[in-house]
Amino acid sequence: MSNLVYVLNGPNLNLLGLREPEIYGSDTLDDIAGMLEDRARDLALSIDLRQSNHEGHLVDWLHEAQAEGARAVLLNAAAYTHTSIALLDAIRAICTPVIEVHLSDPRSREEFRHHTYVGLAAVRTFQGKGARSYVEALEFVAEM
Ligand code: DQA
Repeated sequence: MSNLVYVLNGPNLNLLGLREPEIYGSDTLDDIAGMLEDRARDLALSIDLRQSNHEGHLVDWLHEAQAEGARAVLLNAAAYTHTSIALLDAIRAICTPVIEVHLSDPRSREEFRHHTYVGLAAVRTFQGKGARSYVEALEFVAEM
């Protein structure tokens, strides 16, 4: 099995570090990539981290993860988590396991964030721990 883990990030996560730091913390996406690369090395995994503000890119990358034989996908679909039937269908369309990740805990925020389409198909969810949510999700992949 491949050691490659896709780490896919949705809209506005390119602004991490600047964006509502009281909710999302001060780590940038590059900081998170660095943390994941360090942890991945220890776990004998490798990561391919990407971000897009466009829903279709995330759908294409989910398909690509399967075509490339990735071991798993960590997916922080950001706001598309709560709206995207296309992402739900894409997760269901592939055999590659998808783990849902959030920096914040959407369940403790506005009601419109309580519903997650991604969570209907993801194998596990890690949320509410800032960058640590990603690291714990990667550790979960190593144990799977
Ligand atoms: C988020 C939570 C979502 O509700 C929000 O739309 C985001 C980020 C998180 O990581 O906490 O953009 O996915």
